[in-house]
Amino acid sequence: MKTLLTKSPSKAASFIKRSEVVAFPTETVYGLGANVFDEEAVHKIFKFKKRPADNPLIVHISDKKQIELLASEVPDIARKIIKKFFPGPITIIVKKNEIVPDSVTANLNTVAIRMPSPALTRKFLKESGVPIAAPSANLSGSPSPTSYHHVLEDFEGKIPCILKGPDAKFGVESTVVDCTSKIPKILRPGVVTLEQLRRIDKRIKVRTGGKVKSPGQAYRHYAPRAKVVIVSHPPSNVETRKSEVLPIMPFPFPDGMTPVPPFPIASLTPEKPQKSAYIGIAPPKDMNVFSLVLICGDTNDYARNLFSFFRECDKKGVEIIYAQEVPEKGIGLAIMNRLKKAAQ
Ligand code: TXA
Ligand code: MG
Repeated sequence: MKTLLTKSPSKAASFIKRSEVVAFPTETVYGLGANVFDEEAVHKIFKFKKRPADNPLIVHISDKKQIELLASEVPDIARKIIKKFFPGPITIIVKKNEIVPDSVTANLNTVAIRMPSPALTRKFLKESGVPIAAPSANLSGSPSPTSYHHVLEDFEGKIPCILKGPDAKFGVESTVVDCTSKIPKILRPGVVTLEQLRRIDKRIKVRTGGKVKSPGQAYRHYAPRAKVVIVSHPPSNVETRKSEVLPIMPFPFPDGMTPVPPFPIASLTPEKPQKSAYIGIAPPKDMNVFSLVLICGDTNDYARNLFSFFRECDKKGVEIIYAQEVPEKGIGLAIMNRLKKAAQ
């Protein structure tokens, strides 16, 4: 199959109308979409992505009016989030209407709804005429695509159409907020920060532990083929961690860095020096030990570049990626969430 690359939202929408899947840009990452009411098309998403059937999809809308179609109940907190952040990089979980197929929601009685903001995305959604069920447009488990080149890497010749847009503005996925419980919870930290959400409701928490409510969060994820090691940096942090017994110690370990949990499952004690890379905000002491280095201007820049850096490392055959730990505040919470999943 030839994959059509088009800049035309109506051309892309014509594939949706023919029960096909289409990859499309959003402000977070590219999505792989199908008509939410078309079970045959939705099935193709799972098949192409090799996505487990128990991992539900986000439903993308072009108009707030479509919420009433999808949701049976829109609690107060959801209304406030919609008012403040739709369209934008956030997803709400609410009770679903029967019209939403169980294959989309993985048999949950809730549905995830998101309204992306770019004009091109909205035109595509509008032209499609239906809400679009879409996960990120990557093979299950691999880093999310932040440019159409990444979508081509994973799906060229497999999917019929990619709506070509600019690189993703944010580079990490939307914040997923469960609005069905008394105290709303963040199931997946993302672009809209905990601090921003707390301005709407002080009680909002990030869900930790317990039964997995957002099944996608249970899998190893966002991961390059290389091992990912989160490191504290700059070197001043090394002192405070000296007394810790580190279960694994790679050799040679870059000067001035020390690993922080979670440590990768695979042991980090290779016999020979490994081809390594570094991403962070602070520059490493010695650039020369790495095959690839990316120094980011700030945490937003870090978030925007993380997944494409992972992909670049894989292309260059990097075996170990040292990624700088950042404080878990603002977008840093989403960065650390993705890094921890990749390092598992
Ligand atoms: O930014 C984004 O959210 C991107 C763009 C394309 O919109 N989409 C995305 O989709 O990241 P995906 O499928 O890669 O991640 C969706 C997450 C998964 O962790 C999934 O388990 C969770 O949302 N989710 C979907 N429906 C849910 C539901 N009804 N209840 C709880 N979690 C749900
Ligand atoms: Mg995904």
